[in-house]
Amino acid sequence: MCPRLGNSIVIGVISVILILGSEKVKVAECKAANGGIEYTAINCRKHSAVLTDFGGVGDGVTSNTKAFRNAISNLSHYASDGGAQLIVPPGKWLTGPFNLTSHFTLFLHNKALILASQNESEWPHLPVLPSYGRGRDAPHGRFGSLIFGTNLTDVVITGQNGSIDGQGAYWWKKFHNKKLNLTRPYMIELMYSDQIQISSLTLLNSPSYFIHPVYSSNIIMQGLTINAPINSPNTDGIDPDSCTNVRIEDCYIVSGDDCVSIKSGWDEYGIKFAMPSQHIVIKRFTCVSPDSTMIALGSEMSGGISDVRAEDLTAINTESAIRIKTAVGRGGYVKDIFVKGMNLTTMKYVFWMTGAYKSHPDPNYDPKALPNITGINYRDVVATQVMMSARLQGISNNPFTNICISNVTIQFNEKPKKHQWNCTDVSGVTNKVTPPPCESLPEKEQLQCPFPTNSLPIESVKLKSCSTNAFF
Ligand SMILES: *[C@@H]1O[C@H](CO)[C@@H](O)[C@H](O)[C@H]1NC(C)=O
Ligand SMILES: *[C@@H]1O[C@H](CO)[C@@H](O)[C@H](O)[C@H]1NC(C)=O
Ligand SMILES: *[C@@H]1O[C@H](CO)[C@@H](O)[C@H](O)[C@H]1NC(C)=O
Ligand SMILES: *[C@@H]1O[C@H](CO)[C@@H](O)[C@H](O)[C@H]1NC(C)=O
Ligand SMILES: *[C@@H]1O[C@H](CO)[C@@H](O)[C@H](O)[C@H]1NC(C)=O
Ligand SMILES: *[C@@H]1O[C@H](CO)[C@@H](O)[C@H](O)[C@H]1NC(C)=O
Ligand SMILES: *[C@@H]1O[C@H](CO)[C@@H](O)[C@H](O)[C@H]1NC(C)=O
Ligand SMILES: *[C@@H]1O[C@H](CO)[C@@H](O)[C@H](O)[C@H]1NC(C)=O
Ligand SMILES: *[C@@H]1O[C@H](CO)[C@@H](O)[C@H](O)[C@H]1NC(C)=O
Ligand SMILES: *[C@@H]1O[C@H](CO)[C@@H](O)[C@H](O)[C@H]1NC(C)=O
Repeated sequence: MCPRLGNSIVIGVISVILILGSEKVKVAECKAANGGIEYTAINCRKHSAVLTDFGGVGDGVTSNTKAFRNAISNLSHYASDGGAQLIVPPGKWLTGPFNLTSHFTLFLHNKALILASQNESEWPHLPVLPSYGRGRDAPHGRFGSLIFGTNLTDVVITGQNGSIDGQGAYWWKKFHNKKLNLTRPYMIELMYSDQIQISSLTLLNSPSYFIHPVYSSNIIMQGLTINAPINSPNTDGIDPDSCTNVRIEDCYIVSGDDCVSIKSGWDEYGIKFAMPSQHIVIKRFTCVSPDSTMIALGSEMSGGISDVRAEDLTAINTESAIRIKTAVGRGGYVKDIFVKGMNLTTMKYVFWMTGAYKSHPDPNYDPKALPNITGINYRDVVATQVMMSARLQGISNNPFTNICISNVTIQFNEKPKKHQWNCTDVSGVTNKVTPPPCESLPEKEQLQCPFPTNSLPIESVKLKSCSTNAFF
């Protein structure tokens, strides 16, 4: 294992290359003292291997499914001995889905591109999620994700901004033609896992959601550039689903659906599973999504969503900034949501809440299961080129309460709506908001909407300085 380890071997390799004088670029890339590439992660690894050690061929045509699966199966044996990292070197690596392991890092070189296989028989079938009761595209099973893991601890997927292309066009077409028997794969899904980092990557063209952590905790997602065509179906950027302690920062997302969507299960299945999404922090985030929202809460929120703190947000050409989506039958709650500092340009709506989001897993939802939407706080917003300031639609006999909006300046586009604020079944307060809000959100002098002053434990997690510890 790891013949590439050890400084003497690495230095030996470097000097050979220097003598040959042909690969100076590679030498320049090796910044770490040991000859590897430096990166930051929640944990560094003792063992290291390169995909080519397991027969990988980076020509964009040869399948690397076996290479990835064999490599990770091999490296899983080092989980209890300091863990292992698998390095994906420069090249185009076509692969079918593979599963991760614990105490493991998948590291993509800057010039590495992982290409998702379009050979459907390579994609495993998984049962539907218990908190959903069915798949989103089709009622029965679902395809496993390109990069999948379940019941794991301490997993890192990172790189020097290397890329993963889901080659989603194949799946989008099937979806549009209603040819799917199973729900489309996601690009990355981690279930029942703890201590996750996904960072410094460019993710392209996912078949459906890009990143779906579900029933998981302590997750850092950082420095991600996510890009899908703005008309691609359900290509949500990051969807924490029944997750606790999540930190999303410095991400840039262009998507055909919501850039971030926080979820927690669907109607009677989500109510029964009862696993909320909570303690989520989002910072320095940019979204482009002409037909969807920058940050969605729901529509699947039946396990509850609480304590979301978002700040320093930019949306450009996006349908709405923050949108709460829910419906009768969902149950659950959305509460203690804090948003501060939004710079918005070219928007249909700034604020949007929908209490009649018509989508149910089946007709068996409980019409008495009403969602509790309360404690929604927005402040310090500048928006330009806006069609309508707010569409706030609660549920009759079940109003959305304790809404607070302060220090907001909204400027219109060429064709603004006559009624800028449309509020039904909502209550709360506002201050220093232009244009003037609806009567159900009266002005309160001196009001500044709250934003927590403490920080969440996930915010103080420091990343360690690691190295690929390999020369390639
Ligand atoms: C992992 O692969 C290396 C290199 O091919 C091999 O030497 C080692 O025996 C394998 N380890 C396990 C646990 O399979
Ligand atoms: C990955 O794990 C899931 C769930 O345990 C399993 O169904 C699937 O077959 C695994 N995939 C591979 C490629 O081993
Ligand atoms: C598709 O994958 C299956 C199963 O892994 C394999 O047997 C088959 O040869 C692949 N087809 C092509 C065209 O690569
Ligand atoms: C994963 O963890 C969940 C929740 O603890 C458990 O129900 C499930 O059986 C575990 N799955 C595996 C494959 O260990
Ligand atoms: C990563 O790559 C993308 C796409 O090439 C680029 O837009 C982005 O600026 C890069 N990010 C960093 C941090 O280099
Ligand atoms: C859907 O599944 C059924 C039953 O498993 C199968 O007969 C049919 O060919 C499948 N259709 C497609 C489009 O895969
Ligand atoms: C707001 O975002 C736009 C780009 O969408 C940028 O030009 C402008 O400088 C930003 N303003 C502030 C105050 O950050
Ligand atoms: C909604 O949640 C708030 C805050 O937890 C609570 O005070 C209120 O009673 C709840 N409302 C309903 C209708 O359950
Ligand atoms: C109002 O919001 C702007 C940013 O949108 C911010 O620069 C300013 O400091 C805020 N004012 C107050 C009094 O907080
Ligand atoms: C306001 O919103 C309600 C509920 O969505 C809708 O029925 C009504 O037509 C809207 N009113 C205006 C003036 O747009």
